[in-house]
Amino acid sequence: MKVFLAPMVGRTDKYFRRLARIISPNIILFTEMITVDSLIRGKFKQYSIKDSEHPLIIQLAGDDKNKFIQCTKIISDQGFDEINLNIGCPSSKVVKGGFGACQIEAPMKVSEYIEGIKTQTKIPVSIKTRLGLGYEQDLNEIIDFIRLTSEAGCNIYYIHARNAILDGISTKKNRSVPPLRYNDVFKLKKIFPDLQIYINGGFEDISDIKEMLGIYKGVMIGRKIYSNPMFLAEIENKIFSANKTLSLEEVICQYVDQLDAEEASNKLYALKHLTNLYKGTRLSKKWRIYLHNLINSGQPIETLKNFYKENDYEEKEIISS
Ligand SMILES: Cc1cc2nc3c(=O)[nH]c(=O)nc-3n(C[C@H](O)[C@H](O)[C@H](O)COP(=O)(O)O)c2cc1C
Repeated sequence: MKVFLAPMVGRTDKYFRRLARIISPNIILFTEMITVDSLIRGKFKQYSIKDSEHPLIIQLAGDDKNKFIQCTKIISDQGFDEINLNIGCPSSKVVKGGFGACQIEAPMKVSEYIEGIKTQTKIPVSIKTRLGLGYEQDLNEIIDFIRLTSEAGCNIYYIHARNAILDGISTKKNRSVPPLRYNDVFKLKKIFPDLQIYINGGFEDISDIKEMLGIYKGVMIGRKIYSNPMFLAEIENKIFSANKTLSLEEVICQYVDQLDAEEASNKLYALKHLTNLYKGTRLSKKWRIYLHNLINSGQPIETLKNFYKENDYEEKEIISS
């Protein structure tokens, strides 16, 4: 039984992943999407994974086999637990670059990337994709895509249960306008019984997640966790049957204590993902103002620990909604 934190650009950076891990020892983490060019040229190749961050999956996007091979060497040394290819992003910038969702139409190319990656590593290779492209709801294209890429050695698929519409609607709308089609993900699971198919898209309730975990070995969740990180405590309690989860005060203290000096000095990045921590509680607004003021003040990040003390209230009232 697996629950994955969905990759989200601008959100699942190292700070949010750290927060997620503190609240949930069991969730499987994804990085944000990283293009092969930025991995090869940028700073991320120096990223060193903390033990507590495992399991951690890196998501790559690109359109060049040799660059995927180069990246695999870097990733293997870094110690990621899985390499995931982004074949689902509908952003016009990404599509212009020739990668993301438009690669559903290029299964042979994607197969080459997988074969290339597999020459370099034994780390599992997976794909995150959608049910198809455009407004057509037939599954033939995605079935061909999965068949060919699985023959090339990919056997793990994360399926966002809707199509990608590449012209006419924004990236954001692409997460709500194309309808969710859970039944079609189920059809794929039936057609490919030997593959690991995980479902993603629109999960907000523990009962729905539990239901899906009765069918799939894993469920991926994005926006619900970002908009209310303490939902992870509910996942720990109700899905993983954890005996004890941390209080908000403990979460905040651990988070602050785990920042190194450089991270702590980078207050905006270190604090911005904490905005929704009090979601659904009567302190939500006060907390957001407190964070905003702290970011813009000269005070050290440890000041955050005082919030709880300064706000005399019952812990039982802060259970997330
Ligand atoms: C702000 C934001 C950024 C995203 N970035 C990525 C990304 O980098 N790679 C990716 O495969 N999907 C990305 N997604 C899509 C999510 O991974 C996920 O598939 C989608 O949000 C549906 O799941 P949800 O309904 O649980 O949020 C992003 C979604 C959001 C909201």
